[in-house]
Amino acid sequence: MKSSIGGVIEEPALDNHKVSPFEEPSGAVNMQTIKGHVAVITGAAGGIGHALALDMARRGAAGMALVDASERVAQVARDVNNECGRQVAISYGGDTTDPAFRQEVYADITKKAGVPRICVPAAAITKDALAVRIDKQTGQVVVYPVEDFRKVVEINMIAPVYWAIELVAAVAKDRTSRGLKRWQPEEGLQGAVVFLGSIASVGNAGQISYSSTKAGLEGAASTLMAEAMYYGVRCSVIHPGFTDTPMVRALGEEYIRTKVLPQTQLKRLIKPEEIADAICFMITNAAVSGELWADAGWRPAT
Ligand SMILES: NC(=O)c1ccc[n+]([C@@H]2O[C@H](COP(=O)([O-])OP(=O)(O)OC[C@H]3O[C@@H](n4cnc5c(N)ncnc54)[C@H](O)[C@@H]3O)[C@@H](O)[C@H]2O)c1
Repeated sequence: MKSSIGGVIEEPALDNHKVSPFEEPSGAVNMQTIKGHVAVITGAAGGIGHALALDMARRGAAGMALVDASERVAQVARDVNNECGRQVAISYGGDTTDPAFRQEVYADITKKAGVPRICVPAAAITKDALAVRIDKQTGQVVVYPVEDFRKVVEINMIAPVYWAIELVAAVAKDRTSRGLKRWQPEEGLQGAVVFLGSIASVGNAGQISYSSTKAGLEGAASTLMAEAMYYGVRCSVIHPGFTDTPMVRALGEEYIRTKVLPQTQLKRLIKPEEIADAICFMITNAAVSGELWADAGWRPAT
């Protein structure tokens, strides 16, 4: 029999079961599985977010807030629920940079499914151009527009960090209501955040704003984890290589064939399902911290 406290499914202890060093003590939250947990995924109408929602639903997530500015997110939620034959995903249409929207999503999913313990803030954009270029027509030097840079920072860095902070706050609120102070290992880990970095974080010509935000997430993740472990929440970053999603397809077939594939050792785009699987691995394997490179052996041209 399973018991549910605050929407979080606790796995029961088995009689005479010898607890291995890798298992959480009885009654603790078990983050070694997605099963029974509530997740918040932004960018869920996109390639990686969609694949992740399906993967988590198949792994038995108890509830999922699927967030995206595109109305496609409602269809993604329907697909996930149809495939799983149960009501697990709820779609939320809105802009991730809007703090009121973010707070509404967390309040609603908490009311309907329980305290969220997983956050993958994947929504992002690209606004690619050289930092400095010479206009072919006018011969003038053109500098990357600062308003584009600010927009990319808002969406790709500030928003994901705040969606993650909201997760930590939700867990903190839940633990405080139960009279808990500094996290103790006996409780089991309480939550996990995985940020979407990118191979571009090491530097990629033409991506001055995108690369900066993806590198910035590394500092945010390690700082947030240093603070959030007070509540038992881990934070990490996955750095995917070129993955077969609308973001990469927008580069065009010719660019992918001539500029992307030759720089990967696999000679193919990564499947969104492969990134989804790696994210689930990062959430459920507590030994993994920091950064995971899922880059298909990408080596940038020099
Ligand atoms: N595809 C790749 O090769 C690749 C590689 C490295 C990292 N990433 C990262 O993985 C994540 C997912 O990328 P993807 O390839 O699935 O991209 P995608 O373009 O398929 O999906 C991104 C989604 O984010 C949504 N979005 C953008 N801005 C938003 C906002 N302000 N509010 C709400 N939703 C917003 C879009 O509507 C879109 O559905 C991104 O963070 C991206 O930077 C992707």
